[in-house]
Amino acid sequence: MSQQGRLSGSVAIVTAAGQGLGEAISKMLAAAGASIALVDINQAEVERVCAEIEAAGGNAAAMHTDVTKSDEVNKMVDAVVQRWGTVDILVNAAGGFTKFAPITEIAEDEWDRVITLNLKSAFLCTKAVAKIMIEKRKGRIISIASGAGVGPRSHAPSYIPYGAAKAGLIGFGKLLARDLGEYGITVNTVTPGTTLTPRVRKVRDAASIEKIKQQNPMRSLVEPEDTAEAVLFLASGAARYITGVNLNVSAGNLIV
Ligand SMILES: NC(=O)c1ccc[n+]([C@@H]2O[C@H](COP(=O)([O-])OP(=O)(O)OC[C@H]3O[C@@H](n4cnc5c(N)ncnc54)[C@H](O)[C@@H]3O)[C@@H](O)[C@H]2O)c1
Repeated sequence: MSQQGRLSGSVAIVTAAGQGLGEAISKMLAAAGASIALVDINQAEVERVCAEIEAAGGNAAAMHTDVTKSDEVNKMVDAVVQRWGTVDILVNAAGGFTKFAPITEIAEDEWDRVITLNLKSAFLCTKAVAKIMIEKRKGRIISIASGAGVGPRSHAPSYIPYGAAKAGLIGFGKLLARDLGEYGITVNTVTPGTTLTPRVRKVRDAASIEKIKQQNPMRSLVEPEDTAEAVLFLASGAARYITGVNLNVSAGNLIV
């Protein structure tokens, strides 16, 4: 389907835009006509994504920001408003984890790190854009959750802090959807199935990836673009009355 023009004139902030799902989401929203603030701590990668979007005729700006720090998030949102005048869409994609560990081996600082990156970052970014969206009585907030936040999966050990953070993110979305609905703001989460982004290639071996694939009802792994399509839909006018939803894009892995 041609995406051209579906988000024309919109301004979107996408966190974790330097690689993986955030990169794919940024490129798809840009192709649909949105101006994209590409937010990431990896300056080189986010500049690469920015150059690729501009080369394809899109409009983007690389914004080096640590989304776990409120002062950096607030400065980033100010910079977006200064550049493009407003914020219409926020995609909270920052998150992830680096290793599996049973509860007895999870250090307190690892718990804090994972909860902060996956959950607090969404709170900080959402808080920073909410005032703008409430004033204009329009906005789309979409966070990237995970099957780990829906419940334990049969194919892998649970990574407790990550699952707890993503469950929190799904709950955060539902509560906010109710509170912000009266202002014309929708809040949803998208839950991708296992996707072979650079980080996931590091934490999963070939055997575990094959197992996930074979256990998926559709015997496939989803691509970053599948998740990006779901985000584009939720950001577009077609989804104007869809709010408080957690949309699974998992080739059937998350049939609950
Ligand atoms: N890949 C999957 O299988 C999968 C499945 C379900 C959910 N998710 C979720 O999707 C999101 C993206 O995952 P991914 O696999 O594409 O990740 P990734 O690790 O490949 O990319 C993450 C990006 O986030 C950036 N980043 C890290 N910390 C940051 C910070 N503090 N501030 C700003 N940027 C920061 C990194 O530099 C990197 O560019 C995450 O929230 C993840 O939990 C991924």
